Amino acid sequence: MTTKDKYIDISANCIFVKGAKRAVLYNTKDHKIYRLNEYLTKILSLSQKQMTLDDIYYHLKGNKGIKEKLIRVVLEHPFLKLSQDPLSLEVKRLKPICKPDFLWLELTRRCNLRCVHCYAEAGADIEESCLSTNDYKRVIEEASYLGFKNIQFTGGEATLYPDLVELLKHAKRFGYEFIELYTNAVNLSHSLLNFIAQNKINIATSFYSYKKETHDRITQRKGSFERTVENIKKILRLKIPLRVGIIRLKYNQDHIQKTKEFLVDLGVTAESIRIDTVRPSGRGCNLELMPDDKKDFFQKPEHHYVKYNGNDFVIPGTCWNGKIAITPSGDVIPCVFARDLVVGNVIKSSLKDIINSRKLKDLWEITLDDVEVCKDCEYRYACFDCRALPYSITKNLFARSPNCNYDPYTGQWNVSNPEEVSIMQIKEDYRPVRNKEISTKVIDGETILFNTQTNALHVLNMVASEIWNRCDGKHSVEDIVDSLFDQFEASRDQIEEDVKKTLLQFQELGLIKL
Ligand SMILES: C[S@@+](CC[C@H](N)C(=O)[O-])C[C@H]1O[C@@H](n2cnc3c(N)ncnc32)[C@H](O)[C@@H]1O
Ligand code: SF4
Ligand code: SF4
Repeated sequence: MTTKDKYIDISANCIFVKGAKRAVLYNTKDHKIYRLNEYLTKILSLSQKQMTLDDIYYHLKGNKGIKEKLIRVVLEHPFLKLSQDPLSLEVKRLKPICKPDFLWLELTRRCNLRCVHCYAEAGADIEESCLSTNDYKRVIEEASYLGFKNIQFTGGEATLYPDLVELLKHAKRFGYEFIELYTNAVNLSHSLLNFIAQNKINIATSFYSYKKETHDRITQRKGSFERTVENIKKILRLKIPLRVGIIRLKYNQDHIQKTKEFLVDLGVTAESIRIDTVRPSGRGCNLELMPDDKKDFFQKPEHHYVKYNGNDFVIPGTCWNGKIAITPSGDVIPCVFARDLVVGNVIKSSLKDIINSRKLKDLWEITLDDVEVCKDCEYRYACFDCRALPYSITKNLFARSPNCNYDPYTGQWNVSNPEEVSIMQIKEDYRPVRNKEISTKVIDGETILFNTQTNALHVLNMVASEIWNRCDGKHSVEDIVDSLFDQFEASRDQIEEDVKKTLLQFQELGLIKL
């Protein structure tokens, strides 16, 4: 094939996103992320600079052999191709569509429980809310005209609000597609449950432990466990769609799996159980409540939600994009966990003016392109971004999530893996073995690895591929060093260090087990 004036391009459904060190392809068909190694990152970056293949060889100071290998790497790659034009899908800053979507309506701060972690600082002895039933009705109407399609009635404990049913009816009348009542399920009358069942309203409830002492310790009310369990059974008998939130605190940190199983035994579907860690908001601002590990496990993103809308690639944006919460005093905030980010008040202004205000738009429009560190990361269009969490900890709207353990400047996940070993700990008699999910292709003597689980591609240099070939569980580290010592002109100490470093990298990339 003639390569004169040819460029490297990517499949039409992929976009190429560069970070400080590494790059990835986002495939908008299967919504998977394909990691690129440094070599492919480099050649695609050069291609993006309108360089032809010939320019790239010249730039890489390659010889003819390298040129042929490069062509083969491109042709063999599932999402790369040779083309007449330079990279067609150069990624600009991707933006979300910001339009009204979800409304939390907090009906009261009063509550029949006094949970230790409550962000709303709810309790029995709280002053009644300022908004009247008519105010709430006006807000429900206005929000529906503005395009909000989903509404959640919450609190405090919304079931203590005398006109709850009237407001639920109002939401029905104004055509909300999804209506949910978030309740602790301690007091649910027959008439309320029947109304909810007949009107296709959803329920969300909180549950803390399969052990009643622990649940009641968190809600600070004896007997709450039994009442909530009884009501969960009633909800399920009436076939009302139910979601359950388990909040992880120090007191129930070891109960999560068993609590999930307990709920599933009651008939709750596993998919409708959501686990969250206590947030530093309201009474949740208390280090004593934090689980010992404090952090939620941050998973490496393998999927993304970038969509092509016929014109542009769009991203969902931050979690609070399209959302508002209205507190019982009429304050409008972008999220129930960001209580001091007040963008307006529905008693003082119309909801329309608040929704169209620059203050709210600025919050909805935030993306990881604005966030410290994330802006230099290739995963910035894939990571779920809850802005309220870093904001409530740092008071900086653009701080990175405290749970992220990726360093885009080194391309390394700083996960403390108990199985990881340092170079000093690699023993001579270890027999490294390749992971089963790695498929190996050899093209012109160059080894290309594809991780079928993570979709990562790795091109090995000559020394690394010699080491890789010997990771068969039969060769010890010492055997590998010996055979390379016979092949390459270097001191044995140098070879030993290189072999161990390479094995560590293989292990870090999930290619082998040591
Ligand atoms: C504020 S409550 C209102 C609804 C109802 N009273 C209930 O407790 O189910 C809504 C949800 O927020 C959770 N929540 C309250 N404070 C929290 C915090 N600091 N961090 C995380 N979740 C919290 C509760 O556990 C509950 O699942
Ligand atoms: S979390 Fe819910 S049930 Fe608990 S005190 Fe707050 S509002 Fe009441
Ligand atoms: S949260 Fe971490 S992995 Fe995600 S974009 Fe930010 S730095 Fe990258």
